[in-house]
Amino acid sequence: MTKQLFIATYGCQMNVYDSARMAELLAPLGFVQTQTPESADLVILNTCHIREKASEKVFSELGKLRALKLRKARRGDGRMLIAVGGCVAQAEGEEIRHRAPFVDLIFGPQTYHRLPEMVIQVLRANGAAVIDTSFPEEPKFDHLPSSRPEQGVTAFLTVQEGCDKFCTFCVVPYTRGAEYSRPVSQVLDEARQIIEGGMREITLLGQNVNAYHGVGPNGEEWGLGRLIEALAALPRLERIRYTTSHPRDVDDALIAAHRDVPQLMPFLHLPVQSGSDRMLTAMNRRHSVDDYQRIVGRLRAARPDLALSTDLIVGFPGERDEDFQATLDLVGEVCFAQAFSFKYSPRPGTPAASATSQVPDSVKNDRLARLQDVLAKQQLAFNQACIGRTFPVLLDKPGRYPGQLVGRSPYLQSVHLMAESINIGDIALVTICAASQNSLSGTIAR
Ligand code: 5AD
Ligand code: SF4
Repeated sequence: MTKQLFIATYGCQMNVYDSARMAELLAPLGFVQTQTPESADLVILNTCHIREKASEKVFSELGKLRALKLRKARRGDGRMLIAVGGCVAQAEGEEIRHRAPFVDLIFGPQTYHRLPEMVIQVLRANGAAVIDTSFPEEPKFDHLPSSRPEQGVTAFLTVQEGCDKFCTFCVVPYTRGAEYSRPVSQVLDEARQIIEGGMREITLLGQNVNAYHGVGPNGEEWGLGRLIEALAALPRLERIRYTTSHPRDVDDALIAAHRDVPQLMPFLHLPVQSGSDRMLTAMNRRHSVDDYQRIVGRLRAARPDLALSTDLIVGFPGERDEDFQATLDLVGEVCFAQAFSFKYSPRPGTPAASATSQVPDSVKNDRLARLQDVLAKQQLAFNQACIGRTFPVLLDKPGRYPGQLVGRSPYLQSVHLMAESINIGDIALVTICAASQNSLSGTIAR
């Protein structure tokens, strides 16, 4: 008998990957995914703990789910299991149990391969919740299904997980655990499955993806550059991307891959967090502003059309006006095609959360608004500079209007076009004719 599964995914792309694998794991138990939670038999919230806002969302969602669960039971429509997975579950499993005792299952990012057992256990347990937020000795990847049945144009592939860097603001080393790289053969096998399913693009994922150091077929260690070269040798894979990387792990082989591998897209997300050395030290980033600029210079020398994206934090404890100005200066010098900027959010258990020099919220708001204003202008300028250029666009979904398709440029911009003789999954040469801050539109090049 089929049962309905609803998964809500929050946070980063690693969670998107994990949610897809959870659905695959549960399929043998008869679970089929549905787009709404109302009549689901199992609802999974795959959560994010990176900032306070993301975390709090979980508890407000749980309030709504509780009402649905009661309604379903009153209808005599069976039991709705509620599961909380991901990083909030890992960090606040006990808190969830106390604040939301109606939750049936709590599991972390490293234990979801045990979901089928946990679901069976909770169904048998008749009410008692099951919690598993351990960090197992054996990596979950060794226990995930080997097939990747999902269809589409572009796929995520987690190759690395966890982080040993301990930036003082960040919960990742605590929620995802220590750095781990999947063996090369496992990655290549999964990539082949993805390509066989018809996908044209793979984005390699990891919290610190360029710290990748997987065991190669002969027992030697492979870095990300070498892995990208091997992926590029697989027939029919048109595009490769990777995210998120750390400036300290950009090595010569990775820079060489940007120069030598045409399938590696000329767009790189390289978080810098701040333009002030004083702040970078306090954040334990272990690189200077100058290091970052030198890396960007080397990457751009290797691949002159490379566009960059970044993450920035304002209002980190102790940030003064001159530190913030240094961030604006760096942004002005590098010129980002895209950027994500955040107000510093103190996270329980991280070193910076207990610093005495917290920045008032009003100052954070002001700095964020000023920074975002500059970033928005840079993004618009980058997009406008694309007008008149022709580049390959991977079409990945229908647009809002009949006959319209939407795709991605090499720089990950959304490109809208009207097209008759092309299909989703095609890579079309498109000449860009208009640009806004968030998207481009174009016509098929003749
Ligand atoms: N407060 C604000 N932003 C944060 N990030 C990580 N932790 C915090 C925090 N405590 C941002 C960083 C990181 C991105 C994924 O989220 O910029 O690169
Ligand atoms: Fe967090 Fe720093 Fe690790 Fe990135 S490198 S996941 S910001 S601790």
